Amino acid sequence: MPAAPDRPPARPLPLPADDRGSGPAAVFLHGYLLDRSFWTPLLEAMGPVGRTLALDLPGFGAAPPLPAGAPPSLEAMADAVVATLDARGIERAAVVGLSMGGYVALALWARHPSRVRALALCDTRATADSPAVRARRDAMVQVARAEGAQAAAMAMMPGIIGATTQATRPAVTAGALALMGRQPVAGIVDALAAMRDRPDRTALLAGITVPTLCLVGAEDALTTPEEMRAMAGAIPGAVLVEVPGVGHLAPWEDAASVAPVVAGFLRGVGGAEVGD
Ligand code: MLT
Repeated sequence: MPAAPDRPPARPLPLPADDRGSGPAAVFLHGYLLDRSFWTPLLEAMGPVGRTLALDLPGFGAAPPLPAGAPPSLEAMADAVVATLDARGIERAAVVGLSMGGYVALALWARHPSRVRALALCDTRATADSPAVRARRDAMVQVARAEGAQAAAMAMMPGIIGATTQATRPAVTAGALALMGRQPVAGIVDALAAMRDRPDRTALLAGITVPTLCLVGAEDALTTPEEMRAMAGAIPGAVLVEVPGVGHLAPWEDAASVAPVVAGFLRGVGGAEVGD
């Protein structure tokens, strides 16, 4: 008989976190094929910004996989983030999400808006996958299962890193590939299914009532500045920042340039809602 998948029960479990500092909390949600260590260069470059929690999303880093009993979803990831806030006594947090982490941030806003005091949406989008992208996700599941995480990481190249970074910062590119190549295949497969099946959340944007930063690398080839401009334009009061010389992994590619933007935003949001 095949072994049962090693999944936790349906109740979302708290996620592993690097929990630093004190004061108003901000959670940092990494993208696909990454883990909480993605945020380390940014967190170190920002200086004090209150309490920061960089989480491993389900199936990545040291986090358990998504619970059994339901198809993998970004909603389940958002529920795991809330379970983590509960376990650490945090009522409301600023949510900083990159790419897939941004999808989770929007799912959090959709399901648990009272837990979100601000949003920083980095190199992400609100739209759903097109049929062609959905088919590519299914093909990537086969690649990951057959050839492992390193092959899945290589399949993201060169688009996942900006052209300037690839040309001028080889250690940064190599570090990203190493990080992506060590993620668990089961987590990669779940994330691909969750992203493939995510809903279009464009209609949600007009109802966002918390301060929102949209940040995009000017060389982002996956979630382009054009897409991010449209998303920021749909969110009341959102501020859009385009960071030159970096691509999809902007905070990793040039933490020193991204840090003042994110730190300035987090220091500027005291928990008050737009219109308060
Ligand atoms: C990510 O960086 O999280 C992914 O590129 C997002 C996606 O594939 O849609």
